[in-house]
Amino acid sequence: MRCHLGQAPQVSRPPFRPNSDLRTPVNENTPSIEQELRARIDPAQVPAHVAVIMDGNGRWAHRQGEERISGHLHGVRPIRESLTAATEIGVKFLTLYAFSTENWNRPKAEVDALMELLVNTLANEVDELDASGVRIHTIGDTDSLPAGCRTALKKAMDRTAGNERITLTLALSYSARWDILRMVRSIATDIRDGRLNTFAVNEQLIDQRLSTRGLPDPDLLIRTSGEQRISNFLLWEIAYAELWFTPVLWPDFRKHHFFQAVLDYQGRERRFGLTHDQLNAT
Ligand code: FPP
Repeated sequence: MRCHLGQAPQVSRPPFRPNSDLRTPVNENTPSIEQELRARIDPAQVPAHVAVIMDGNGRWAHRQGEERISGHLHGVRPIRESLTAATEIGVKFLTLYAFSTENWNRPKAEVDALMELLVNTLANEVDELDASGVRIHTIGDTDSLPAGCRTALKKAMDRTAGNERITLTLALSYSARWDILRMVRSIATDIRDGRLNTFAVNEQLIDQRLSTRGLPDPDLLIRTSGEQRISNFLLWEIAYAELWFTPVLWPDFRKHHFFQAVLDYQGRERRFGLTHDQLNAT
């Protein structure tokens, strides 16, 4: 496997302004920033799987003097923008942390509003998603979601099951520890009942028993809002992911931010425990 990600190809323009310029919300210059960044992306080194911790909705709403739910409502556009950006450059898997196991402990009104938003967003977007070749998928304890959400998700997943351009995975009622616990219980039960030998337990088997089975490990993990932590997201799967943090609050996140994250990723050397010289030996 070729692990080294070289620099994005040089273009004869002056270098792009530093990351801090990307903190600003969308403005009239955004299309040109977007095009400039996109042009710098090396199509041969696009991450196959990008995972995103969408954070900062509450703070965004607070800054506008609005209720927290307004931040969530304004969190739909950046999902659309990220999905479009990912699709345009050939990312095959986009995984979004939409509702964690711990989020159940939020005020009931906020939880209810988020569930309603999920149902409405799926209803509004499914035609467009299907037409764009998006396969909708979920990870997490989706049985614990309200019936309306389960129905809307099943409908959207059935409808888009044959699409292959990109897989959009929504992590819903998900936490990595919940998933790891389930996996350990399932393996322990099979060993106890004689269906599995201890020596058959390996990384591949663990992959198969997690709700992320079938998805490649994320290459790039983005977190918005300036927080620099993982918050119980994909703990097993991000072992070798590149992490990218931005102060931008999720409702302000746009395509050009996504492209910036991919460009940063392409400037890194993924060594997977090897040395630089080993990676570059022909
Ligand atoms: C984190 O911000 C965000 C969430 C817990 C929910 C994410 C939901 C969306 C982006 C809305 C749309 C999603 C779908 C799938 C339709 P926060 O509320 O923790 O923000 P804070 O840290 O500023 O309080």
